[in-house]
Amino acid sequence: MNRIAVYPGTFDPVTFGHLDIIRRGALLVDRLVVAVAVNTEKQFLFTTQERIRFLEEAVSPFPGVEVCQMDGLLVNFVRELGADFVLRGLRAVSDFEYEFQMAGMNRKLSPEVETIFLVSGEETMFLSSRLVKEIAGMGGDVSRFTPACVIPELGRRMMARLGRGSG
Ligand code: COA
Repeated sequence: MNRIAVYPGTFDPVTFGHLDIIRRGALLVDRLVVAVAVNTEKQFLFTTQERIRFLEEAVSPFPGVEVCQMDGLLVNFVRELGADFVLRGLRAVSDFEYEFQMAGMNRKLSPEVETIFLVSGEETMFLSSRLVKEIAGMGGDVSRFTPACVIPELGRRMMARLGRGSG
């Protein structure tokens, strides 16, 4: 059976937390589509094309994984793709309420869309893109949190945003 899953998110930027879920999720299906959301209320640091480029580079070692832009509702994306389920990562207890609500709303919108959760590994349990950005903006070392391809531009962008010159 050709199993397809969608792993949606904003990935601003991708972290090792996301990559942990992608690596493990890819082992469960034949095709894992990482869906980069465009229209959310978040103010992005990186453009859609940048977020996709970082992800494409980061997932290149994983067979069966591809990266796509997602413009509208997740349930429509899943349906159009003919995917079997949505994959999400669950970190600490704090994720539960949000994820529970989102999975429930998606089920209301499209009853056949199931969401399957993978519990984050210990190493990535506390990671979030927001914290990685904050650390980078203050000159901290983020090499344990986000792939090398992200780091130079992340540093520049956050320093500029926070008004800290590199000198
Ligand atoms: N490890 C580390 N960090 C993780 C993680 C993991 N396993 N999983 C999520 N995160 C972090 C992200 O980095 C992000 O951190 P940030 O808030 O500091 O940026 C945070 O958790 C949540 O991010 P994300 O997974 O990208 O979720 P989101 O809330 O930004 O995006 C979508 C949610 C894109 C899935 C949702 O908005 C969506 O489906 N949009 C499409 C439109 C739609 O259908 N809307 C109706 C939904 S009911």
